[in-house]
Amino acid sequence: MKKLYIFLFSFAGIISVPSAYAQLEYKDVAHIFYSRCTSCHHENQNAPSMMNYSETFALAYPMGGDLASNRMPPYPPDTAYKRFQHERIITSAEKADVLSWLSTGALAGDTTLAPPAPTYPPYRLYGTPDLVLRTGTFTSNAGVADAYNCFSLPTNLTQDRILRAYEIVPGNIPIVHHVVVNIDSMGTTTSDLTGGCYTITGDVGIGGYAPGAPPTVFPGQAPLKAGIRIKAGAKLVLQIHYPAGTAGQLDSTQIRLYFYPVGTTNVRAMYASVPLQNWSLTTPANTTNTYTASYYVPLPISVFAAFPHSHKVCTSLINYAYLAADTIPLIRISNWRFDWQGYYTFRKMVKIPNGYTLFSSHFYDNTTANPNNPHNPPQNIYAGTSTTDEMLFDAFQWMIYQPGDENIDMAALMANDPLLNGVNEISKPELISNIYPNPSSDKLNIYLSKKADYKINISTIEGKNILTTKTNEDYTQLDVKNISSGLYILEANDVKSGERFSKKIIISR
Ligand code: HEC
Repeated sequence: MKKLYIFLFSFAGIISVPSAYAQLEYKDVAHIFYSRCTSCHHENQNAPSMMNYSETFALAYPMGGDLASNRMPPYPPDTAYKRFQHERIITSAEKADVLSWLSTGALAGDTTLAPPAPTYPPYRLYGTPDLVLRTGTFTSNAGVADAYNCFSLPTNLTQDRILRAYEIVPGNIPIVHHVVVNIDSMGTTTSDLTGGCYTITGDVGIGGYAPGAPPTVFPGQAPLKAGIRIKAGAKLVLQIHYPAGTAGQLDSTQIRLYFYPVGTTNVRAMYASVPLQNWSLTTPANTTNTYTASYYVPLPISVFAAFPHSHKVCTSLINYAYLAADTIPLIRISNWRFDWQGYYTFRKMVKIPNGYTLFSSHFYDNTTANPNNPHNPPQNIYAGTSTTDEMLFDAFQWMIYQPGDENIDMAALMANDPLLNGVNEISKPELISNIYPNPSSDKLNIYLSKKADYKINISTIEGKNILTTKTNEDYTQLDVKNISSGLYILEANDVKSGERFSKKIIISR
């Protein structure tokens, strides 16, 4: 019945729900929130939590409009043009179900029949990072305007290493809007904590962090091992965007880096560069304009990811490669949003043969019709790095082409990646069903979801192991009275299946 209804619904393309059909209850739609929304909408994020019925119901009113207008989930690239990994999208059938649920009053029904909520462990990459760099405690300087600060962090590497993956973990997630990371190979840059660091220093862009985005992982097993070289003595530059109104709040963001073991062979070099730039653009107040950039490709390349960039007067953009009448699509954003940008990783690398030209075109709407226009009334806009200027600055991650690159199934390769096996956007049943009491001062009771051979350990958030124990029961009690007060990670590892699960615990006395 439900399937039939969805079919009729999408066929007719209507938004209201005929009342003759069964009313959906929370249990029928919870899985949609858990797979499409809660990666951003959970506790302590910069989006309001949506982890249970009452929290979701509290957002019911704005939700209908946000879904109907495609404002949520936020995903700028046009899926009709090119597909990427980790798309933050909702299918039309799922959207129809949520709208139907909303239109009949967002009923609770028996909420215990809803699937279990996913959990979000503090770190998403498995294994121990080779290097952890921290900004140190920083007090946000974003008063009436947004602040952009650049933290230049020495790696202290004594030999070159090849970056395989990294994860950025904001200390205070609600105030960290985005982080962009560059390598400063010479190690000569210094931090700019004035709030006006619009242009990030450094010579090699390696990606960044945006709310809800997965960690950056380069393919690290056959048929493709790839990575970015970090030179001995290099610094990493983290540009962190704190939104207006957060002044005085504390943050301490860390970047956790995973390298290939020294001496690993056959790692192909991934490059990051910005071939498409236009610094002569200008758009007078109350006009619209199109600006372009192009770049001749002298040798065949495999494009791994695209990161187009503009500010708030831009409303749409497109990147492709062409030779005569042949075009190779790369990315199209019909509804550009400055707040949602990042590297978009192709599902299969895109081969650009030599002789083709990379091409970019951005459309700038400097009228009052553009709701994101930073000026009211509109002002003349010039090229520049401040968010009230404009840019055309389209970056790519790419490699020198090797035959077969375009056939490698990146998503499948990533699904088998040992670093990423915990990053599954669909929830798995939890191994740990309860920890009591938390915070704890003396004894910690750990309830597991089933009997199995477990290794359980407690480590500091820096990854230092404090305590390890084994059990084959579904319950165990740990004595924590010798552990000093603080925040720790408790991990349960089902030794046979390899499944792992972690939760934050607090020791306090
Ligand atoms: C990539 C992260 C992300 C995902 C995925 C996401 N959201 Fe959001 N959402 C946000 C952020 C950040 C905000 C707050 C800022 C804003 O409103 O833009 C927000 C705001 C909202 C609001 C407005 C809240 C208010 O008080 O006005 C609603 C409703 C909403 N989201 C619904 C959804 C739904 C439904 C989904 C899943 C279908 C979803 N979002 C998926 C990040 C996300």
